[in-house]
Formats: sequence, C-alpha cells, structure tokens
Amino acid sequence: MRVLVTGGAGYIGSHTVVQLVAAGHDVVVVDNFSNAKPTVVPRLEALTGGPLEVHAFDLTDRDKTESLFSERQFDAVVHFAGLKAVGESVEIPLEYYQTNLDSTFALVRAMQRHGCFRLVFSSSATVYGEHAPVPMREDLPTSATSPYGWTKVMIEQVLRDVAKTDERWRIALLRYFNPVGAHASGTIGEDPSGIPNNLMPFIAQVAVGKLDKLRVFGNDYDTPDGTAMRDYIHVEDLAAGHLAALTRLGSTDERVSTWNLGTGQGTSVLEVLHAFEAACGRELPYEIVGRRAGDIAASYADPSRAQSELGWRATRTIEDMCADQWRWQEANPLGYPD
Ligand code: NAD
Ligand code: UD1
Repeated sequence: MRVLVTGGAGYIGSHTVVQLVAAGHDVVVVDNFSNAKPTVVPRLEALTGGPLEVHAFDLTDRDKTESLFSERQFDAVVHFAGLKAVGESVEIPLEYYQTNLDSTFALVRAMQRHGCFRLVFSSSATVYGEHAPVPMREDLPTSATSPYGWTKVMIEQVLRDVAKTDERWRIALLRYFNPVGAHASGTIGEDPSGIPNNLMPFIAQVAVGKLDKLRVFGNDYDTPDGTAMRDYIHVEDLAAGHLAALTRLGSTDERVSTWNLGTGQGTSVLEVLHAFEAACGRELPYEIVGRRAGDIAASYADPSRAQSELGWRATRTIEDMCADQWRWQEANPLGYPD
C-alpha cells in the first residue's frame, strides 16, 4: 500500500515508518518539524535503505494538505501528527485544540475527497480519564483531565461521526499506554525538548549525567511498593501494532475499531528505575517527593481485544525497553543533531 504517515518524523512515527517500509509499503511522510529535527530523515533512510519522501508542512494548512492528496494517491493514512505535552496543553489550550483538531479536519476532508478511507489514529489511554478501573477495557466511557486529553476524546468522536457518513470508512482508534524505548540500532529514539516530563526519558537523562537525580512523585499509593504503576510498552511493539491494525482494516466489516495497545502489565516507578540501573550498569540517584497533581495510582491495559482481533501482542520486557532506551541515550546524549 502507499501509506501517508503524518508526524512520521516524530518519536512513534519514525519507528513505525521503518517497520512499514520493511513490510513493503510505499511510505510518504508529512511533518512540520515542530517537534522533530530534520536530521532524523537521513537516519531513517539509513534504516530503510532508500530515500524517504518527506513533505515539510503544517497539516492544518488545508490547501497544502489538499494539494498533497491531489498529487499522490494514498491507500491508507497513519495519523500521528499533533501536539502531545499534557502540562503544556493546560498552559496553551487553544493551540492544542486548534492544532490537533484542525490537522485532523484537513486530513479527513482530503481523504474523503480523494477516496482514501483507511485511517489509523493515535489515541491515548488518557481518554479513560481519572477514575477508570484497571485493567482498562475499550468499552469504558471516555473522559479527560487535560486539554490534550480532550483533543483525543473529541477526535475519536469526530471520526466515529464521519465514519457513519460513508460505508467505505475503516478507522482504527489506537489507545496507546506508555510508549518507551528505542530502535535496537540506537540511531532513532525519543528526543524531548527541554527537561522531560515523562519518566523513562527523565531517568535516561539522569543516567547520562544531564540531570542530577530522579524525583519519584509519591510513594504512598495503594500499590505493592507505594509508587505509581503504568503500562510501559516498547515503541517497536507499538509500531508493530500499527501494522497489524492497518492489515486488519483491510478485512474487517467494522467502520471504526478501537484497540488498546499495551502489555497488560503494570510496572512501578521504582521497578522502572531499578530496571534502568541494570541496563546502564550503575545505581541512579533519586529522592521521594510529593505526588504529581493529576496522577493516578495505576494505569494498565486489558490488551485482549488487540490480541484476539489483530493477532498482535507486545513481547518486549521492561528490561528490553530500558536496554534500548539506554543504547539510544548513550549514543545520542544531546538527542538528534541540529
Ligand atoms: P512526537 O511529537 O514525537 O511526534 C509528533 C510529530 O508530529 C512531530 O514530529 C511533530 O513535528 C509533528 N507535528 C505536530 N503538529 C503537526 C502539524 N500540525 N502538522 C504536521 N506535523 C505536525 O510525538 P509522539 O510521541 O511520536 O506521538 C505521536 C502521536 O501519538 C501523537 O498524536 C500523540 O498524542 C500520541 N500519543 C503519544 C504518546 C506518548 O507517550 N508518546 C502516548 C499516547 C498517544
Ligand atoms: C503521561 C501523561 C498522559 C499520557 C502518558 C503517556 C501527564 C500528567 N500524563 O502520563 O496523559 O497519556 O504520559 O505517555 O503527563 N514520574 C516520576 N518522576 C518523574 C516523572 C514521572 O515519579 O520525573 C512518575 C509519574 O508520577 C507516573 C510515572 O512516573 O507515576 C509515569 O509518568 P509519565 O511518564 O509522565 O507517564 P503518565 O503519568 O502515565
């Protein structure tokens, strides 16, 4: 298939591009490089073994999005592009609503107009809101605790409504849990700008000496060691989930399918820290501080629907995730070059 990957220069998109090309797809990327560096492109080309067609523009630009679809015929779209920092979305909500919704509107309009009806969308476990029971199942009600989360809830609803208008639509809403790790080559990985908000990149930067110590947000949760538990999933397993979803969209009669992509296993903050210490071969400094506002004690998936309907399951362990994250961080202490 010819597959358009929006946000294909970003963290999850770049790993998915490599797997799509390896599976024989003809991949075209759109990215405005608002949260990616152009130097990822030659690295992707080295991994895929050929030139990669990349269009650098903002998807919210309806004319440019429309022109791309006029020039090229796509069989499917994997839509990663969007803003994703929860804290920032509270500071600048309008930017989040505008970017995430307008880019999706422009994309879906162009798809409709040009007869491309197969779409895989990056949703998030954040749509289960604050009070969801674990393990989280796809049929739970959706909700959100941040403007970022609301954009995911809203886009899911938009896509469900659009799908009702044409029987050709086949849409996958993929709800990711906590993506971490990097490609085994150590040449592509997550490159957060500024101080990372998320646990794994923060620990990696402590390990490489960029940050002094980890602050563990709370050890008084109702969990085995008191620290909060999450469902960390290796980005390569996550990327494989996109390929499985794309394939499944070719045979399903459902216009919209929702799949959790997680391991089904919760790992605590201290367990992640200790797994990372094993990967980098030394103890890492940390201190216990108060809970982070808005955090929940435990979040992990019930991944059984994806397992049975997609024939997909996450296979990599927390040790694999830390080893690959460390290989990437050690080889690229400053992330991608400018
Ligand atoms: P990322 O920021 O690394 O990738 C997103 C890419 O989209 C970036 O390369 C950015 O430059 C590009 N982009 C942003 N706005 C754009 C626009 N208007 N036009 C064109 N390109 C644009 O993020 P990621 O971690 O790879 O996440 C990918 C998707 O998965 C996002 O939609 C995110 O919300 C979702 N998601 C991520 C996580 C996570 O923890 N990383 C968890 C759940 C869901
Ligand atoms: C964050 C997002 C969530 C998103 C998810 C997936 C917030 C509030 N939520 O959630 O919307 O879907 O990522 O990427 O940002 N921790 C520390 N010290 C740190 C950093 C984190 O102790 O310096 C703890 C957190 O309290 C949490 C765990 O580590 O218990 C994981 O944190 P993080 O990586 O930010 O992920 P989420 O909290 O799941």
